[in-house]
Amino acid sequence: MAGNKSGKKRRREERPTIHPKNKYSDNPPDFSLLASLYPSFHSFVFYSSDGRPRIHWTDFNATRELTRVLLLHDHSLTWWIPDGQLCPTVPNRSNYIHWIEDLLLSNIIPMINTDRDIVRGFDIGTGANCIYPLLGASLKGWSFVGSDVTDVALEWAERNVKDNPRISDLIEIRRVETSENTLSVEDSQNDRSSSSESKVKLADNTRYYGPPILLGVVKDGERFDFCMCNPPFFETMDEAGLNPKTSCGGTPEEMVCSGGEKAFITRIIEDSFVLKQTFRWYTTMVGRKSNLKFLIAKLREVGVSIVKTTEFVQGQTCRWGLAWSFVPSVKKIISLHVAEKSTLSFMLEISASHGHCKAILKNEEQHCDRAVGCEDAKDTDTSSSCLNLPLTDLCFRISVFQQTPGTLLVKGSSKQGDSQASEKMMCTS
Ligand SMILES: C[S@@+](CC[C@H](N)C(=O)[O-])C[C@H]1O[C@@H](n2cnc3c(N)ncnc32)[C@H](O)[C@@H]1O
Repeated sequence: MAGNKSGKKRRREERPTIHPKNKYSDNPPDFSLLASLYPSFHSFVFYSSDGRPRIHWTDFNATRELTRVLLLHDHSLTWWIPDGQLCPTVPNRSNYIHWIEDLLLSNIIPMINTDRDIVRGFDIGTGANCIYPLLGASLKGWSFVGSDVTDVALEWAERNVKDNPRISDLIEIRRVETSENTLSVEDSQNDRSSSSESKVKLADNTRYYGPPILLGVVKDGERFDFCMCNPPFFETMDEAGLNPKTSCGGTPEEMVCSGGEKAFITRIIEDSFVLKQTFRWYTTMVGRKSNLKFLIAKLREVGVSIVKTTEFVQGQTCRWGLAWSFVPSVKKIISLHVAEKSTLSFMLEISASHGHCKAILKNEEQHCDRAVGCEDAKDTDTSSSCLNLPLTDLCFRISVFQQTPGTLLVKGSSKQGDSQASEKMMCTS
């Protein structure tokens, strides 16, 4: 039991909290300093019995003022939102920006060839706070289209952009038109694909009936490096509940949509299936782990080339980041070395459509060599076989795993005990 407890403790300590590139990872906001510099913030700060400066997180005015002074002090941004609108916490929202930066730099998929020299992003539902375009433009110099549907969001997002002339040229606020002429996903799929196989099949409980999200909002010929989204997570305001420990505001228009985040993000996936390489990366936040599994399965169905996830720990709340792409992943050798080990081994990571993965695994199963322990490989996500190279007298045990949706990991190790060589090779294709 003691071992269990310490294991649990270690896991909690190891949970990711803040991205290492985040400005606040080593220097959390200093309330005393901010209170001394900004009288408007000073009135919200009190000192607890341990002498530490604090604010009442349940006071919307206090959290809004904290966000205002952090954006001003650390990012030179002028910012405000009306009462009750969703108030972002700057350190948490910065994590999503840094995760996107990691994706863009990762080279897992090639750059899209454009004549642009700056990164271009699309913030779905930018809100009155317009936080992602403001942070992305000021931290990274990225340009943005920020979309929204409500008058108050559009009016205040515009204001927040105009109040920051240093970056205002980088941000376009775009109204989502809900005209009847907007192409529905179903119409668009009929237009663009004659293959019934390639259509996204959706269960009724995941239907989204709201305004357009990407399709019908992205203009012809536009190309983006990424999209991002903090979706309306909930189906009802009751479900949204108000975290009794914080007050970050949030109106029903911001927090709720029919079908909740599952439906909203499913629509983004449907749209991405049509728009394909219009975006290099599609990304979104996900509020529930159970929805994450459902959405990854949906991505498998539409045959994306890559799926990435991350976890954002935001105080007491956990959110997940989900990213995918239709750009074929880059084939490259990540490492190749000869080490002094007693077995010859290699590892290959292969990206392919889910259908291809299944076919490869099935083929592997058929060549399965029971003598090397194939009975372990009972499900279709794992398979083992034996590869003989008669001329070299080498015999490899090959194991194929479906590691993540659309990613096969092929591991091979020699059965020859006296070999002095070992090599590790990782490829993506
Ligand atoms: C949870 S809020 C996120 C606001 C801001 N991005 C943030 O992170 O604080 C969701 C936003 O999505 C907007 N929204 C809802 N449906 C939309 C749609 N179809 N297209 C664009 N925005 C939408 C809402 O009006 C709201 O501002």
